[in-house]
Amino acid sequence: MSANTIEHNRTRQNFDGVSSIWLFGYGSLIYKVDFPFLERRPASIRGWERRFWQGSHDHRGTPEAPGRVVTLIQSPGAVCKGMAYRVSPKVFEHLDVREKNGYLRFATTLTFEDGSHREGLVYIATEDNEAFLGHAPDADIARQIASASGPSGPNAEYLLRLADSLRKLGADCPHTFALEHQLRSVTSDKA
Ligand code: SIN
Repeated sequence: MSANTIEHNRTRQNFDGVSSIWLFGYGSLIYKVDFPFLERRPASIRGWERRFWQGSHDHRGTPEAPGRVVTLIQSPGAVCKGMAYRVSPKVFEHLDVREKNGYLRFATTLTFEDGSHREGLVYIATEDNEAFLGHAPDADIARQIASASGPSGPNAEYLLRLADSLRKLGADCPHTFALEHQLRSVTSDKA
């Protein structure tokens, strides 16, 4: 599938008669909230794990030197914590452009901290998109993140802000925290 998902997303869900919908954010959507929302609540989804396995050519890297950003990988029993936003479907006109480098909107069940559930959407970059990079050793991922930068800023900032936001949410994400640790050692070696 082409890395540009704007057209694919346009036809994925029918929002006729829908005034608001829950959106689950697990990456930059937790800390970079450049869209209007009606309500915001910490939430989690089941069966998915966060991984820095998606290439970023348009935000945190370039086509020549892509950065790495998060996507979700299926993992039975896993719980991924993030932030849910109740938004007007109009918001997807903006977010589909922001998430265009490989992310598709999928339906998912969100669980809030009080145990209640709602149906919602989540952007996931699946492994059949052209920008998908997949697994690599943590040290290699950290080195790639340390050196990449794009129109939205340094890739390192994406990782550090996400790690901070996850700590504030009380989310345990060993993968993100291990990469944060590696990144700090890569950058202190350079200093
Ligand atoms: C998300 O945050 O939910 C999607 C991935 C990203 O934009 O970092």
